[in-house]
Formats: sequence, structure tokens, C-alpha cells
Amino acid sequence: MLDAPEVPDAEYDRLFGELQALEAAHPELLTPDSPTQRVLGQLLAGFAPVRHAVAMLSIRTETDTEASGAINFDARVRRELGLGDEAPPVVYAAELKFDGLAINLRYEQGVLVQAATRGDGETGEDVTQNIRTIGQIPLRLQGSAPPVLEVRGEVFMRRDQFERLNERQRERGDKTFVNPRNAAAGAVRQLDPAIAARRPLSFFAYGLGEVQGWAQPDTHSATLDAIEAFGLPVCADRTVANGADGLVAFHRAIGAARDALPFDIDGVVYKVNSLALQQRLGFVTREPRWAVAHKYPAQEQMTTLERIEIQVGRTGKLTPVAKLAPVFVGGTTVSNATLHNLFELRRKGVRVGDTVIVRRAGDVIPEVVGRVPGPRAGYVPNFRMPRICPVCGSAARRELGGMDYRCTGGLFCGAQRKQAMLHFAGRRAMDIEGLGDKLVDQLVDSGLIRTLPELYTLGVAKLSALDRMGEKSAANLVAGLEKSKQATLPRFLYALGIRQVGETTAKDLAKHFGSLDRIMDASVEQLLQVPDVGPIVAQSIRTFFDQPHNREVVEQLRAAGIHWAEGEGAVDSAAPQPLAGKTLVLTGTLPTLSRDEAKALIEAAGGKAAGSVSKKTSFVVAGEEAGSKLDKARELGVPVLDEAGLRALLAAPSGGAATEMTASD
Ligand code: IVH
Repeated sequence: MLDAPEVPDAEYDRLFGELQALEAAHPELLTPDSPTQRVLGQLLAGFAPVRHAVAMLSIRTETDTEASGAINFDARVRRELGLGDEAPPVVYAAELKFDGLAINLRYEQGVLVQAATRGDGETGEDVTQNIRTIGQIPLRLQGSAPPVLEVRGEVFMRRDQFERLNERQRERGDKTFVNPRNAAAGAVRQLDPAIAARRPLSFFAYGLGEVQGWAQPDTHSATLDAIEAFGLPVCADRTVANGADGLVAFHRAIGAARDALPFDIDGVVYKVNSLALQQRLGFVTREPRWAVAHKYPAQEQMTTLERIEIQVGRTGKLTPVAKLAPVFVGGTTVSNATLHNLFELRRKGVRVGDTVIVRRAGDVIPEVVGRVPGPRAGYVPNFRMPRICPVCGSAARRELGGMDYRCTGGLFCGAQRKQAMLHFAGRRAMDIEGLGDKLVDQLVDSGLIRTLPELYTLGVAKLSALDRMGEKSAANLVAGLEKSKQATLPRFLYALGIRQVGETTAKDLAKHFGSLDRIMDASVEQLLQVPDVGPIVAQSIRTFFDQPHNREVVEQLRAAGIHWAEGEGAVDSAAPQPLAGKTLVLTGTLPTLSRDEAKALIEAAGGKAAGSVSKKTSFVVAGEEAGSKLDKARELGVPVLDEAGLRALLAAPSGGAATEMTASD
């Protein structure tokens, strides 16, 4: 399967069961290479084989996800132990069934000497190098360790780590992983340990393999306590349960908590707690009679992709959303799932009408992870990203080199309304005091305002009608709005929320063009004349002002009374410019200047405050707890100053003096 299964597990289990039944009824059809004859997995070239001293078994799966699954298991155990109705309840150890891959850790004299995958149960793969990169796994046991102790458990990836990994893959246009288990399996069997080390993995121990020279406690739960005392991670969500009732209660409690767990589980595991009783029960083929995995509804299912719709997010991102034939997955019925973006959809080879695999785990939005069977040859998509925003009709564009299509009607688009208002009102933008996210929600949700310029039509009477809005705070907001009308061109430009136009670019634009009208009418070529404005930024500005709706909003804002002195922000040639042409990067906490103050001083002196260090950086100004930027500066040989050094630079009469200072740094 090469860590990339073609059908969801639940479907595999069903087909596997069918095949088993068929082979039982018709033994003449059974072949040695039937999947039923193999425990799991295959050896990959590249890893040395490891013969397990004690075979790594699997456990029987109870696919009945109701309480009856637990009741039947307990009844079976009691029958096999020959217990009558009057006999006391059997005591069980109840644990989570982690959804990762099984690993055997071999400790000799307390030192980790080998880590192996399960492989076919008899022979696994030596993955010691990769497993050593998992910080949670001790390389040396605590306390007095026996000569030989093999600890078995599950390597898995937490859900948040998995999401982050896929997010990174997506940003780079790389292949994403179907689920945390595949990502974990891929990392463990990654031939390059450096890559494995970058995939964040976790581990929980759940049992033992070979043991020499150690008196194992006589119950499973006490064995787990001992493993924990040796310094290995054991999941705290476990209990000692009495009889069927105890098992049912555990299954129910964990089922309710499942979505809130930081990792995937596909069920719980019940084990007869007494090792003596385990021995009496023994094994059937390769499965112990004393343990069972009691499943929960699967987190992956197959269904039909009926349509693809476009959803516009708060930031204008257009996301293709799969409209599915409703399917029960991860405990709820799902009929919408994200397809993330066009490129991922294409890489998965998904077409409308296909049978697809949907995954829903935890609080994560359900997603289409692939099609059944896998990607096809000669794939021709039957879906196109719209070229206009389905919410507002503005152009939808993809940035150069970007993965996402976005609506370019930032100020006008209903989907982006709240975000646009919040940004507009922000401290570094129009600085409208009293307009925070709760109020924006209220204003928009109540229908009081629909467009950004309507903000300026709000009066105390209208505002006081809102929930929890007293006359005083209403009056304050109105005053804040009034005050914000006196703006500056860079602030106003920044407030418009044009993609790629941050504060620094806004200032550069204002300085270069001197008036809003000139910026709105500038061609891409003219925009490229502005220092530090590249093709992506230039195109973004041009596209923004090409949307008639955005222009309309700008005009309405001006008509509402927002004004600034034109030409302001253009270079004031009278002021001394000791930092003209210099780029500085601030890092860490300076003793007296705040980040904003330092930045303002640098800019007033004609310099630029940049966010990241490169060869072009003139100086790095480092304060306390300076981090990677300082390292980068040292690496690149960029001169480093402290606050006093910065002040000396600012006081210097010209750029020339500043340059000289660097020599002594
Ligand atoms: S005990 C003899 N306990 O489920 C019993 N297994 O088929 C050996 N698993 O691949 C397994 N959580 O990796 C056990 N708490 C748990 C488990 C667990 C997950 C996995 C294990 C194996 C499969 C069992």
C-alpha cells in the first residue's frame, strides 16, 4: 500500500471481511498471496529487516460501534473462561486505540538500541534513526532498567501538527497527506532521517515485547504504570474497567471526548487486565482472545461528488467546496467538504461525478482527500475556477506564483465586509476608536451598515438602538469616526486593505506619487518605479483600482469627508536625512524605544524599516531577546547596533557618517 491507501479503512475492512467469509465458505479459492494471509504491511527496500523476538500481533476488531460491541466481547471472555452468571465481573484495562503505526522499541541495559516497525508481524524494518528524532522517546530509561526490555506502542502525528504540515505542503504546491496516520507512516519510513526529523511525531506505549531479567507486574494496567515510570509516554486516558458496564461507560465517555482529543483515534481497546487470565485465554490464529479493538464511526468515507461550489472567505480567498451525497463520517452527516484550492483538486485528479474519500476528524473542516480509485491517467478536469467573485461580481484573480484565487473587490465584497471594516478602523489605518470586532459584527449582522462608507452615516440615535450600546459609547464612536476623517494619504491607502500593500508600501507609494488620484491611475510600469514595489505588488494595486466598485467606495469615502493634505508624505527635503537609502531591521526589545517609535524615527530620518534581514540590510538594531534575525545578521555579516547605536546614527549629520560607523561595529 506504500502508505497511500486507495480506499478508506472502513471500506477496506468491509471488503476484507467479505473476502474472509468467501474463503471460509470456499477454501479452494484461498491462495497463499491472499490479503487475508498477511498480517500487515510489506518490507520496503532501504531498511534492514528486523526479526521480532516476540511476534507483533494484531487485535480483533469489533466493528459494531454500539455498546453491544463491548457487551459481546465481555460475554465471549466470560464464556471462554468458563465463568457462570454468578461469577464476579472480569476486570479490564481500557485504553485508546491510537491511529498511527506500531513500533517496537528495544532497550538493552536501559539504552535504546533498536526501533522497528511491525512489518508482517514476524519481521519488521529497522527505523531506529528516524525514531530517535522523536523527542518523547527516551534514549535511556529512567530508574534501574532490566537487561532487555522491549516496549511497544504507537507512533502518530497530532492533528494540529498534521494540519500545519499539510498547510505548508499546500503553500508550496506539494502533495498533501491524506490523514495523520499516513503522514506519520511516511515520516517513520522516510529514508532521509533529516526529513523525518522535520515531521513532528508523537508516541504512546501500550505494551511489551521481549523482556529479560524483569519481574513484570501481574496486571496490564500495572505494567503500563511501570513503563511510564521508566520514562516512556503512556496516554493518561485509560482506566481499569469492571465488566461489560465498565467497558460501555469507557466507550461512551471517550466517544464523547473524541473530537476534542488532540489526535485521531479509531476506537478504544479492551484488554483483560490479569496476565494470568490472559494466559488462560491464549490466542486464535494471530489474535489474542483477551483483547479487542472497539471501533467508533469511521473518520473517512466514500461518497459521490455532486457539484463544486465556490465559497468566498473573509480575506477574499475563493475556496472550491465539494457538494456531496450526504454521508455519515466521523459521527455526523456531511454534505459539504473543502477541496482547498484548484491545484490540490487537480493533483488529486478529482472530477464532478467521482466517488471521493471524505475525511472529518475533530473540529477540522471536512475535506475531500482523494478519489476512488486513486488519481487517473489522462485526467481532464470538469471544473474551472470562476473569473468573477460569486458574491460581488468583482474580478477573481490568482497572484503570480500563488495557489489561491481571490476576489479583488476587497472594499465592496459582502464576504469581506467585516474584515475590511476592521482593517480600515485599525490603529495603524484610520484609527477609529471604539470600532472593534464585536461592534463590526453587530453593525453588519443587524443590517445597520452594508458598505464601508455607510460607517460615516452612523449617528448616536442609530447606534444607541444596538444591543449593549449605551448613549455614551455611541457618542464616543461618532466622535472617533469624526476624528478619523482627518487622515494622511499613507494611512488611507493602507486602510483600503489592498493585498500586498502594507504600511511601508503605502508610505512609499504616497511619497512617490504624492496624490491618491495619481496612484489610482498609475500603470503597472509606473508603479514599478516605486522603490521596493515588484510585479506582484504593482499588479495587485492595479487590479484593485481597476474594480469600478472599489473606486466607487473610495469616492464615497472622500465624499463622506475623509481628507488629507495632498503631497503630504512626499519627501520633505528640508529635514536632515541621515538614513537616506539605508534599510534597517529591528529585532528584540529596545530599552526605551517601542518598536513603533524606533520605526518612526528611522523613517523620519529617510531610512526604511524592513521586516527581514538580507544582504541588502544596512543595519540590524537588536534589543533584548533578539532572535533569528540577529543570527541571520551575524551569518550575513550585517552590522548590528543597539539602541544607543541607532540614536547615534540618527543624530549623524549625513548618510556618510553613518557608513563610517559600520566599520567600527
Ligand atoms: S495492543 C496483542 N493497544 O492497533 C495486542 N494496540 O491490531 C497488540 N493499537 O497495529 C496490540 N492502540 O499498533 C494495542 N492501545 C493499543 C493500541 C493498539 C493502537 C494498534 C497497534 C496495532 C493494532 C492492533
